[in-house]
Amino acid sequence: MADGPIYAGLDIGTTKITAVVAEPEASGEGIRILGFGCAPSDGLKRGVVVNLERTVRSIQHAVQEAERTSGRSVKSVSAGIAGDHIRGINSRGVIAVSRKDSEIRPVDVARVIEAAKAVAIPADREILHVLPQQYVVDDQDGIRDPTGMSGVRLEAEVHIITGAASACRNVLRAAERAGLQVDELVLEPLASASAVLRPDEKDLGVALLDIGGGTTDIAVFYEGSVRHTAVIGLGGANVTNDLAIGLRTPVERAELLKLASGCALTSMVRPDETVRVPSVGGRPDRDISRHMLAMMIEPRVEEIFAHANKEIRKHHMAADLLGGGVVLTGGASLLPGMTELAEQVFDMPVRRGAPVGFTGMEDTITDPRYATGVGLAMHAYHNDGGRRVADGNWMGRIGVGIRRWIEELV
Ligand SMILES: Nc1ncnc2c1ncn2[C@@H]1O[C@H](COP(=O)(O)OP(=O)(O)OP(=O)(O)O)[C@@H](O)[C@H]1O
Ligand SMILES: [Mg+2]
Repeated sequence: MADGPIYAGLDIGTTKITAVVAEPEASGEGIRILGFGCAPSDGLKRGVVVNLERTVRSIQHAVQEAERTSGRSVKSVSAGIAGDHIRGINSRGVIAVSRKDSEIRPVDVARVIEAAKAVAIPADREILHVLPQQYVVDDQDGIRDPTGMSGVRLEAEVHIITGAASACRNVLRAAERAGLQVDELVLEPLASASAVLRPDEKDLGVALLDIGGGTTDIAVFYEGSVRHTAVIGLGGANVTNDLAIGLRTPVERAELLKLASGCALTSMVRPDETVRVPSVGGRPDRDISRHMLAMMIEPRVEEIFAHANKEIRKHHMAADLLGGGVVLTGGASLLPGMTELAEQVFDMPVRRGAPVGFTGMEDTITDPRYATGVGLAMHAYHNDGGRRVADGNWMGRIGVGIRRWIEELV
């Protein structure tokens, strides 16, 4: 097998598990994807591991395929985590810079982040990310990197993401039993955002919705940093279940019907188109209008968008602050009519986003379903950059903190 550093992302989703293996781009900037594996997943419920054995098996299948296609052996991964146990809060910390020349050093930045982390986190929750939003030096706000500036008072505003300790532990256990070391746990919408959003969108303000099978994950960015995150326990699988009940057909058939003929916006479908519905219990198949199918899909998708809209607006992220609008990704974003219906609900411009910003295997991987997996490989790459310069670098130190926490947990 070839050698050299590799970076692997492991997306443990509700409907599928994806492993992405990448190496650093020859130019030294970004990643080149070498291999990819995907296996059906049935050990999760609404984004959370509920059956360890099944999850371990799916992880092994996905990783073996990624190893085979890349010709490399995967030892450690950046793994994704989601589920409606995830909470995001904004916090702030303040410190005095007492050095004589009052120059702000990386150690001060690390201290102020520590101070911002000092909020009451319940014992059954763990901190997954501490994401700096802005710094205030004396009275000057809106600073992205205060290192090297002069000041006596340093303040940091951060977004802290926590998850239920048991859910985090189960992801780690599943990966470890599949023979993998987890270098970091990354909130899935943050990973998807890294792969799908453009820097100008994050600056202007944008809401990313990763609509998967079991959950819809939200990340809101403004002025380049994360302002709000949320996970809603509804996704494409709910749409499929609605169809199975409404049409009295098995779930697998309902899924195929949705993929072949589904549409999220009734008004986009011509009333004269029909689709064949296979029935259960030996009854004959029947034809229904595609319009009727869309009528069964639209209310659920609208419900998901309405929930997401409430989350986005709850945190004062009014539409006029989100100049970049809404970006949809995840498998369920592939349903025709999604962007059109989303524009109606959010009253903002909406686009569908697939992962970009990498080379290698583009034909297979440029697909909204793989946004999280690609984003996780990108996180693994950037995290390693942080590790190499870890001495005196606060990002590196936070990375080390997470790893230490993982080591203590398992
Ligand atoms: N072409 C398509 N048209 C419509 N829906 C699709 C299409 N392809 C996939 N889906 C739907 O997308 C959903 C799966 O999306 P995805 O692969 O992003 O989920 P996941 O990552 O496994 O789950 P989660 O992120 O919720 O844990 C399923 O409900 C599936 O029906
Ligand atoms: Mg997913």
